[in-house]
Amino acid sequence: MKILILNGPNLNMLGRREEALYGSEKFEKILEQLRTAYPQVELEYFQSNVEGEIVTRIQQLADEACQGLVINAGAYSHYSYAIHDALLIPQLIKVEVHLSNIYARESFRQKSVLSSACDGIIAGFGKESYRLAIDYIVQNSRRKVGF
Ligand code: DQA
Repeated sequence: MKILILNGPNLNMLGRREEALYGSEKFEKILEQLRTAYPQVELEYFQSNVEGEIVTRIQQLADEACQGLVINAGAYSHYSYAIHDALLIPQLIKVEVHLSNIYARESFRQKSVLSSACDGIIAGFGKESYRLAIDYIVQNSRRKVGF
């Protein structure tokens, strides 16, 4: 089984950015922990600071054997209709994640335009948000691949 973790802008700076909110670990370290926790899952990782690159990577999923997408689009989550529209294309489980609880932060963060294009959203559990999302996909992937 394959799952793509897609991180958007500034998430390449984890460990060096607002540590109180986002933690002190680099994402590469978190990815290593996730791969250890889910040895049966092929966890692919893609990060971009560029909206169009994120759109293109999501579009490509339409032709790939991939069962799930875990997406943290960073600030794009709050206003990118292009990423919203792209998310409607591939037929796989899509889980929006955030490290911080966006509903307990500034008002501009309290809305995500991506949530309605995803199966669900997990926010506020730090790196555990990613693990919970992967867990959901692993438990529910049969539904969409039709076993
Ligand atoms: C974030 C929340 C966003 O509002 C912010 O722009 C980020 C990170 C999170 O993971 O908590 O870059 O997506």
